[in-house]
Amino acid sequence: MVGESAIPPEKVPHHIAIIMDGNGRWARSRGLPRLAGHRAGVENLRRILRACTEFEIRILTIYAFSTENWGRPEAEVRGLMNILETVIDRELNHLHANGVQLRHIGDLDGLSPTLQEKVLHAVEMTRNNDQLTLNIAFNYGGRQELIRAFRRIIEDGVPPGEIDETLIDYYLYTAGQPDPDMIVRTGGEMRLSNFLLWQASYAEYYSTPVFWPDFDRDQLLKAIEQFARRERRYGLVPSS
Ligand code: IPE
Ligand code: IPE
Ligand code: MG
Repeated sequence: MVGESAIPPEKVPHHIAIIMDGNGRWARSRGLPRLAGHRAGVENLRRILRACTEFEIRILTIYAFSTENWGRPEAEVRGLMNILETVIDRELNHLHANGVQLRHIGDLDGLSPTLQEKVLHAVEMTRNNDQLTLNIAFNYGGRQELIRAFRRIIEDGVPPGEIDETLIDYYLYTAGQPDPDMIVRTGGEMRLSNFLLWQASYAEYYSTPVFWPDFDRDQLLKAIEQFARRERRYGLVPSS
């Protein structure tokens, strides 16, 4: 039983991935600068983390900054970097106390040395926590992740015949974690925008027009309820 609904535990997604989109439009609709939308988005993340604990979601992956987002105006990019830094500074102890294991997925090398250090410290500090895993996709791109994996596979001298799905999984940022069961996109777009290309193969996709800062616990519950009603067939015939 989850929330007010009678969702059996086995129908609750184990791993939810969220494309947190719509911050800019949320801000514009209020006559605010885009960065105000990003800040509101961070506030919202707190609510969603609480809701994930309530609904017993075990892994939450959030798309916070894509490899393509570098192309945005410099001030916005700088603002987003600062936000990540502030979030780590302000929230790390609280997240740690709540048993959240932080993982970074994406290319750390592209970030400033200070930010790299903070991310590594946060990951190290929380590595043994087991209430909820929070994967932060920051400077993440699905294609970049695959290129990195292929390069390492070749560098490791893996014989071609040994390359299979399990091996590729092992070379991804998400190594050791199950694939997302559901990918939620706020802000209404119907695309993946280079998110988890490999891992998304059988994820249930859920898109809502609600902008990320407005996507609250009840919105998440609605997504989970819809997920619970879907039949995942994995290419097989419907079960009778
Ligand atoms: C998502 O919100 C956050 C990031 C991509 C960093 P957007 O900034 O893309 O918001 P919209 O899509 O312009 O409304
Ligand atoms: C996807 O949103 C990336 C993040 C939410 C971090 P974008 O706003 O960058 O995606 P597009 O440009 O609409 O595809
Ligand atoms: Mg967007």
